[in-house]
Formats: sequence, C-alpha cells, structure tokens
Amino acid sequence: METDCPIGVFDSGYGGLTILKDITRELPGYDYIYLGDNARTPYGTRSYDVVYKYTRQAVEKLFEMGCHLVILACNTASAKALRTIQQVDVPRIDPERRVLGVIRPSVEALAGFTRNGHIGIMATRGTVTSRSYLLEIEKLYPGKTLRVTQEACPMWVPLVENDEQDSPGAAFFVQQHVSRVFNEDPGIDTLILACTHYPLLRVQIDRYIPEGVAVIEQGMLIARSLQAYLRRHPGIEWRLSRSGQISYYTTESEEMFDRMGSRFMQAPVRSVRIEL
Ligand code: DGL
Repeated sequence: METDCPIGVFDSGYGGLTILKDITRELPGYDYIYLGDNARTPYGTRSYDVVYKYTRQAVEKLFEMGCHLVILACNTASAKALRTIQQVDVPRIDPERRVLGVIRPSVEALAGFTRNGHIGIMATRGTVTSRSYLLEIEKLYPGKTLRVTQEACPMWVPLVENDEQDSPGAAFFVQQHVSRVFNEDPGIDTLILACTHYPLLRVQIDRYIPEGVAVIEQGMLIARSLQAYLRRHPGIEWRLSRSGQISYYTTESEEMFDRMGSRFMQAPVRSVRIEL
C-alpha cells in the first residue's frame, strides 16, 4: 500500500491558492500538489459538460501524480463536477481514493455566523445557476427559514486572473454586485465569498458592504474541515507523505504562474507547465 501520497489541490486558476495557503498554514507537515488550469480559466461561465470534463482530467492527472486525496478548491468545479466524479469516476479509477469539495464545509459553517438567517452568496454564474448552495443549505438546515440571496459576479474572476484586482475597473464591478445583493435583501448579515478568487478582492469588497456584516472567506473553513476529515479517516491520513513540500503545476505560462503565485502565497513559487 502506498504511503507517500501528497494531497492534491485543484482550481481553475490562481483562486485555489487562497485555499492552499490556509490549508498549508493549518496542516504544514504534509506534501501538497497544486494544479491550476490557467489555460482554460474561467470555468464559471462554462457548461456542465465542459466543467465536468476539465475537472475530471485534472483529477485524473493528480491521481497519476500519486495523490489519493484531492480537494476541488474551486466552487464551480465542486458545484458542477464533484458529485459525478465521486459517484462515477472515483469508483471506476480506484475506490480507495477520495475527492472533496468546498461547498459543504462552507454551508456547515454558516450557522456559526448568521444571527438573523439572511445570507448573501457571491459566486460565479456557474455556481449560482447550479443552485448547489441552495440545495446544500436545504439539506443541512431542513425546516429553518433562511433567506438566501445569490449574486453572480462574472467579471470578478477575470479581474483577479489578470492582476487587476486593485484597479478602478475592479472597484466599479465590485460595487455593482455588492450593491445589487444588498438592494435585493438589505437584511443580509452574512456574506459568503463563494468563489476562491474573491478574497483577492476583499479590500474593495469591504469598502461597499454595510457595517456589521460578517464576510466569510473559505480558506480557513476548508483547512479546518480537512483537519477534521483526516482525524475521522486515519486510514487516509496514514498514507499521506510528510516532508512539508508544495509542488505547483499550471496548464499555462510558468513565468506568469510564478509571479502571481508568489504574491498569493507570499512565498517563492516555482511551477511546472503540464497538459491535461
Ligand atoms: N475559483 C473558482 C470558484 O471558486 C472559479 C473561477 C472560474 O470561473 O474559473 O468558483
């Protein structure tokens, strides 16, 4: 039985690095492989079929690289591909392996934040139209009267991917979507940034949200949920390799990934380009 397995972390681009950063801070001893599909980002505007195909290819690549546990650190991939990958692909490839997403742990955390049950969800168009957050909320809080308002922010990911998050253009699009969600429900007391890219826009977001609103970023939630998962699954935890190394792979330019990645991780990043 293999016992030298890194943890795979996948995102459509750089956004998942916001999750990786918190995971490696909370669980520094393990080895990690990060894969960003920068050549095909954004996923948020793509159809089910395409998001599923791209995500499956990424998971297969991470499995080939020796990962037995893969985190889809991308809400869009978690919304549109996770279930099929868990139910169809993992059993076919190797039933011992595991693929986890980011939506369930985020929804689980909601109860600890909202006081009045008014929740805002900022996400890609793909995540919003999949209704995955709404379904998960219904499942986890049956019978509770929660008011959930979703807002698709299609410009936010391209702004981050193109390093424009601090520009006046970004301020315009951030204000537009934040005002829309609060116009729809002025009572929102908890706002989830349900896309891994959005923490990079946090400074701009904070300028436009009403005082007293809790803003949830996913990194720490996913890190804690992974920690709890590994405690509950010692058989999986036992297989993980532990030399504290992080390897980075991208489907686009290494130079661009290293520059952006080093900023996201606040540490030097050296990536390798691969094809999926
Ligand atoms: N970072 C991804 C998410 O969390 C989506 C980015 C994209 O549109 O590719 O939803």
